[in-house]
Amino acid sequence: MEQFVVEGGARLEGSVSVLGAKNAVLKHLVATLLAPGTHHITNVPGILDVEIMGQVLAHIGVECTFDGSAVTIEVPDDLVPETPIDLVRRMRASILVLGALLARTGVARVALPGGDDFGSRPIDIHLEGLEAMGAEFELVHGVLHASAPDGLTGAEVFFEFPSVGATENLLLAGVMAKGTTRIGNAAREPEIEDLSAFLSSMGASIEGAGTSTITIEGVPSLSPAVHRAVPDRLAAGTYLVGAAITGGEVTVRDCVPDHLRMELRKLADAGCEWDAGDDWVTVRGPERATPVDFATLPYPGFHTDMHPQMVALLSGASGTSVITENIYSARFRYVGELNRMGADVQIEGQHVIIRGVDRLSGCPVDACDIRAGAALVLAGMAADGYTTVVNVEHIDRGYDNFVEKLSGLGGQIRREVVDN
Ligand code: EPU
Repeated sequence: MEQFVVEGGARLEGSVSVLGAKNAVLKHLVATLLAPGTHHITNVPGILDVEIMGQVLAHIGVECTFDGSAVTIEVPDDLVPETPIDLVRRMRASILVLGALLARTGVARVALPGGDDFGSRPIDIHLEGLEAMGAEFELVHGVLHASAPDGLTGAEVFFEFPSVGATENLLLAGVMAKGTTRIGNAAREPEIEDLSAFLSSMGASIEGAGTSTITIEGVPSLSPAVHRAVPDRLAAGTYLVGAAITGGEVTVRDCVPDHLRMELRKLADAGCEWDAGDDWVTVRGPERATPVDFATLPYPGFHTDMHPQMVALLSGASGTSVITENIYSARFRYVGELNRMGADVQIEGQHVIIRGVDRLSGCPVDACDIRAGAALVLAGMAADGYTTVVNVEHIDRGYDNFVEKLSGLGGQIRREVVDN
């Protein structure tokens, strides 16, 4: 087991680069299943989830070779269309192999996904969309058996909610389906535009990715491609909150500031100053944050995956803030941990009420999911004394070289191996 030990009090200063987005690269890896041959993806972060997806693909018969921030993917002609339950339960993104395997082989056996514990996370929107395209499903002992007896056919689908994963699953299923697929109320995340760009370089015909209506003309086959992943806006945003919470000044390089519009607006409301160019953004933190209210929403709204980091910041603000979580029903396990550090945060239904306190006080805390873990590390940077964060494999799932990057900014943090 490993833990992070954070000593509070240092201001984060300097510059840090981010690599490609976890939530883009995982989908690119799955998309390679659609075309036999050799693909290359660059700007790939060294994170646990990418490693797990490599293992999922290995089970399917695909070989991934990592070399620094590049990965070469060898996709054979024949695939094993199933995913092992132990891997799928560790990572929700594995459900995306469903659309790709159905498109490529007409069958798939996929265990129901796990991932972060944010309350119930059904896949009904994925299944409804794929059913409209001719897929049939049966749940057998926790494993979804999917088949498309007559192949997948284009369909008009209108989502009840702009689900990121369902939009991606239908993109993967639609690019080689017969005819036209139109997705209404599609998710508009930059990572979806990036998946569409990768699929297009493989020969797919897609219009409207990044808008609420995506139109896909199926093509008979796709070819391997080379692609550079879109920068990780969540890693970037996390380091910017690091500047804000420590009253420091951090420049994030190799990012797309435009993808963080709403988050930067709320950081400004909290008293930060910021400045940006095409691929960099600098945030200067205030001596003490001012309270801010906001709601998480699908892109381009405030990202749910920046919610815990913002709560960490606002727990030291000069008044009361209210955040409404609209994406997940139960993304609040980190609140108990933050309160143990002296924060005054209360949950009322989907609302988080944060009464700013004068200081946080370091103590042992549990990184219950990726973003909660990052938020607790940032809280530790602003707290008195030492904060020990356990279960750091959650943080390792999503942040490339987190300890090294924070240390490079002057943060006092180290990784320790602990005996059970
Ligand atoms: N939902 C349904 N039915 C469905 C699909 C989704 O009810 O069929 C609900 C979910 O239960 C959830 C909400 O809709 O409450 C949002 O789910 P969505 O499908 O949009 O998200 P996702 O594809 O499961 C991705 C990211 C998450 C990120 C969300 C929202 C990946 C691998 N994961 O999840 O990232 O929070 O979009 O932006 O892309 C993270 O990186 O830490 C992370 C959790």
